[in-house]
Amino acid sequence: MCGIIAYTGHRPAVPVIIQGLKSLEYRGYDSAGLAFEHSGRLHLFRASGKLQALEHKLAGGQVLHATTGIGHTRWATHGLPNETNAHPHLDVHYNLALVHNGIIENFQQLKSLLMDKGCTFRSETDTEVLVCLIAHGLEHTDSIIEALSWSMSQVQGSYAFALISRQHPGRIWAARKASPLILGAGTGENFAASDIPAFLPYTRDVVFLEDDELVEMDAGNWTVYRAHSLTPVSKQVQRIKWDVQAAQKGGYRHFMLKEILEQPKVLMDCLAGRVDRKNNTINLSELQGLPVPSRLHIVACGTSFNAGLWGKYVLEGLAGIPVNVEIASEFRYRVLVEEPGTLYVSISQSGETADTLAGQRMVRERGLPVLGLCNVVGSSVARESDRVLYTQAGPEISVASTKAMCSQLVMLYLLALYWGHAKDRIDSRTVRRAVTDLYSLPAMMEAQLPRIQTMAQKLCAQYARARSFFYLGRGINFPLALEGALKLKEISYIHAQGYAAGELKHGPIALIDNELPTFALALNNDLLGKIQSNLMEIKARNGPIIALTNPETVLDVNDRWEIPWLEDPLNSFLVLPALQLFAYEMAVYLGKDVDQPRNLAKSVTVE
Ligand code: M6R
Repeated sequence: MCGIIAYTGHRPAVPVIIQGLKSLEYRGYDSAGLAFEHSGRLHLFRASGKLQALEHKLAGGQVLHATTGIGHTRWATHGLPNETNAHPHLDVHYNLALVHNGIIENFQQLKSLLMDKGCTFRSETDTEVLVCLIAHGLEHTDSIIEALSWSMSQVQGSYAFALISRQHPGRIWAARKASPLILGAGTGENFAASDIPAFLPYTRDVVFLEDDELVEMDAGNWTVYRAHSLTPVSKQVQRIKWDVQAAQKGGYRHFMLKEILEQPKVLMDCLAGRVDRKNNTINLSELQGLPVPSRLHIVACGTSFNAGLWGKYVLEGLAGIPVNVEIASEFRYRVLVEEPGTLYVSISQSGETADTLAGQRMVRERGLPVLGLCNVVGSSVARESDRVLYTQAGPEISVASTKAMCSQLVMLYLLALYWGHAKDRIDSRTVRRAVTDLYSLPAMMEAQLPRIQTMAQKLCAQYARARSFFYLGRGINFPLALEGALKLKEISYIHAQGYAAGELKHGPIALIDNELPTFALALNNDLLGKIQSNLMEIKARNGPIIALTNPETVLDVNDRWEIPWLEDPLNSFLVLPALQLFAYEMAVYLGKDVDQPRNLAKSVTVE
């Protein structure tokens, strides 16, 4: 789960690569490096730590003449995040330099094989094994592309890589298998990168590479081949419409804050094209011709999983469709019990999460249908689904997912209304009312966000010494409690556990004392009475309680945090930013690295 970029063209390559790596840092940031060819030699710069450390190393200026190079920002999988293990890696004779994202699963066997043939290794990485394997292939052919094709037939696992050679100035080879890689086709310059923002300042014309495709390019040309047969593949160039500005901080201190505060706009964008504003009806043209499923099986990870679980409540409630929701890393290794009429739904912001993708592939291998709910256009989940609903949240850069979840909830709610109506469980009037209410949400959220943020700041200062939190909710608020806990953990490093409030008495209540605060979602719905009782049990054991609630509820808690009441499921759209801002403000208060929390990466493209 790293970021790679390759450039060949007319500009100085190093600044282009550094710029590209900055926009890829969300994919990994424990070390970085780049390599370029100049005067018949490969030059290599690498540094552990953030990109800045690499920039310091480069601050001599002597590197500015090269016009072809590759760069990498790493999230360690094999070997410590130090300089030796940082990419690019060179072969023994310093002829080739390679950057790689993913995991070579059989690297140990290949390494032993290469060592038997006299190869020596400097790092602990699987990447160095790959570059040495390619060099070994070149002992039998003069053609790099043939050596690459042979090497790809030897390696198992998921990867995307880019390669340069000392002997072929100006040329780059790149390939992918189960890891993202996109070609940027410019004028007199070409790029390959793990994600589009890496080259978006230079070109909007992109080519999505498929698994087992290999591209050879120089400044003026690019050709894509099937890796194993080396037959050319005709590819379509697509034009990216979104702006690089949309992927930048826009004056906010952190991407996470920008993305939380963008949610009113996300709500509007998400509805765009899905709702006929004149008649207030739902129009999901992407689903045309698809029968209403008799069962749904949602598969996802992390925040997308929490969104899926939230979806279960609305889909079962409104559409009467039974829903299973499963963590993709579990699902992919379970026996798949087929049930006719089941539609599998993959939810993924990035569309590149390895576990989600593997689950979806398992389903499709059995000939079963998959609906992708995805934010990144052209991502693997999207391309490998039978139908796709794009969530239209725009680029999400912060590692902690926020606005993507908001858009996933909207799409799941629209689906529930759409299928509920198709099944005659809800009438047109109800749909019209729901759509009108949805359209009133952005303004409501916009107006509430400043108040929510102020309250989050106040509470964080009070609770920042806590070492652990419970997050409790019931019904539709249970998945949100899970999400609140996930957000707090990942960016403030305070342990937090999301729980169904009614389950507390079956064990976890033993932990309650005056040092373990509970963040309760005590919203005014038909389960309020139940959660009130759960909170009394906590109070009786001296547990401090913050209750996120609506006006006029009666609660005996330490801190009451009121948000306006909206009928479920719309209440969730004010609960969600409150949870996000509480975690955000806590992380800021504690001085944590909000956008790049330790040990994490934005898209988890390894198992
Ligand atoms: O891109 P995806 O939605 O598939 O990502 C799934 C998770 O990796 C992701 O939601 C992760 O849990 C976030 N860091 C949560 O903030």
